[in-house]
Amino acid sequence: KRIVVLISGSGSNLQAIMDAIDANRINGNIVRVISNKADAYGLTRASNANIPTSFIDHREFDSREAFDGEVQKVIDAEQPDLIVLAGFMRILSAGFVSHFVGRMLNIHPSLLPKYKGLHTHQRALENGDSVHGCTVHVVTEELDGGPLLIQAQVPILADDTPDTLQARVHTREHVAYPLAVEWLCNGRLEVTDSAILLDGEPL
Ligand code: GRF
Repeated sequence: KRIVVLISGSGSNLQAIMDAIDANRINGNIVRVISNKADAYGLTRASNANIPTSFIDHREFDSREAFDGEVQKVIDAEQPDLIVLAGFMRILSAGFVSHFVGRMLNIHPSLLPKYKGLHTHQRALENGDSVHGCTVHVVTEELDGGPLLIQAQVPILADDTPDTLQARVHTREHVAYPLAVEWLCNGRLEVTDSAILLDGEPL
């Protein structure tokens, strides 16, 4: 399978997926990494592994649609089976999402449907939650709202700060995201118009 990964930052989830590919766990290859930030460390990770990269600066476009159109063009040129959002900090336009519907995944640092949007770790702490986690989901037009594929849970400890909690969630992200990609690439997980199937059974 051909995988394109979109990032804006450190790319530790990208790295986890690259590592799973290197370990022959994922029946696929990352054919391009795209970032909207020139200094995203994930671009360095990709270059070090000889994966082609593109930097597309959203500030150079007049509208969200124009930026998304350019990103869509660069993605389509790779004819990918799967588009993986891994810390891509841009809200996507409806046209972009519908173009890739069923083929695009995101990871979000909360137990969705709780805490869509930003500052999830701080919000979980402020609410006095005892557990927190991350979710891999199919991308639909609703921000952080598509069908859930995998969730991983972590405890919230009494002395946690947003940073310590984020670090604990990150370690789970690095397990959950490669697993979802693995299952999609080996056909265990299927996303159709009407259902998500795991081993042929609706999730
Ligand atoms: C992760 O916390 C992910 O859940 C969120 O953005 C962050 C990306 O981290 N969507 P990294 O760039 O993969 O290290």
